[in-house]
Amino acid sequence: MDVKTAMLERHSIRKYKSDPVSDDLLQELLEAARLAPSGTNHQPWRFIVVKNQGVKEKIQAAAFNQKFLSEAPVLLVCCADLLTYATNTRKRIQELIDSGVFGPEAFNSYPDVDKPIEPSALKAFIPHAMLNVAIAVEHIALRAVSLGLGTCWVQAMKAKQIAQILELPENLVITALLPVGYPNQSPTLRPRVGIQDIVYKVVE
Ligand SMILES: Cc1cc2nc3c(=O)[nH]c(=O)nc-3n(C[C@H](O)[C@H](O)[C@H](O)COP(=O)(O)O)c2cc1C
Repeated sequence: MDVKTAMLERHSIRKYKSDPVSDDLLQELLEAARLAPSGTNHQPWRFIVVKNQGVKEKIQAAAFNQKFLSEAPVLLVCCADLLTYATNTRKRIQELIDSGVFGPEAFNSYPDVDKPIEPSALKAFIPHAMLNVAIAVEHIALRAVSLGLGTCWVQAMKAKQIAQILELPENLVITALLPVGYPNQSPTLRPRVGIQDIVYKVVE
């Protein structure tokens, strides 16, 4: 399936069949996430793969009881690991220098690269980290379509409650929930604004 077809066929799926998703397909989805681009190639995405029915139901209760969350055979809790920004920056910049993307002077732009980052300062990375995780999540959503699977982005949730349920450390920030399963509905394209509405201006 080409990318445009996957985009056209992806719709938020809120009804799932009970058929399980094989581990091979799950690996394909995680591979799609792994291939996503990220700022300075930090790859901050981390996933909790929830198959346990009781745990899915607890998460659903902390997500305004959106019932498809426990109906889907797999629930991916998509997180940003803020610690990637505290531990890997020198390595990632060096990789970019080695591959010729950055010049050797790149470290001048990162004067604090070797200074330990206070845990409280890590919060400043949240917007950037979540942006990167979002790219990986959409990679999964599109790959899922090509495998006959459905997903639905879910952000309406009480992330702190879900972090408690899953006993997540503070460095993992939940970005989205992504139920995965075989669709039991065939939605059509929801309304979209026109191209003329999204191009603010053309500068020639
Ligand atoms: C960041 C984000 C958060 C969303 N949160 C929810 C949600 O909490 N519950 C839900 O049912 N759909 C959620 N959606 C799905 C949107 O409602 C849906 O993408 C939009 O209406 C367009 O429909 P489509 O995905 O079928 O094209 C979310 C989508 C995105 C991208």
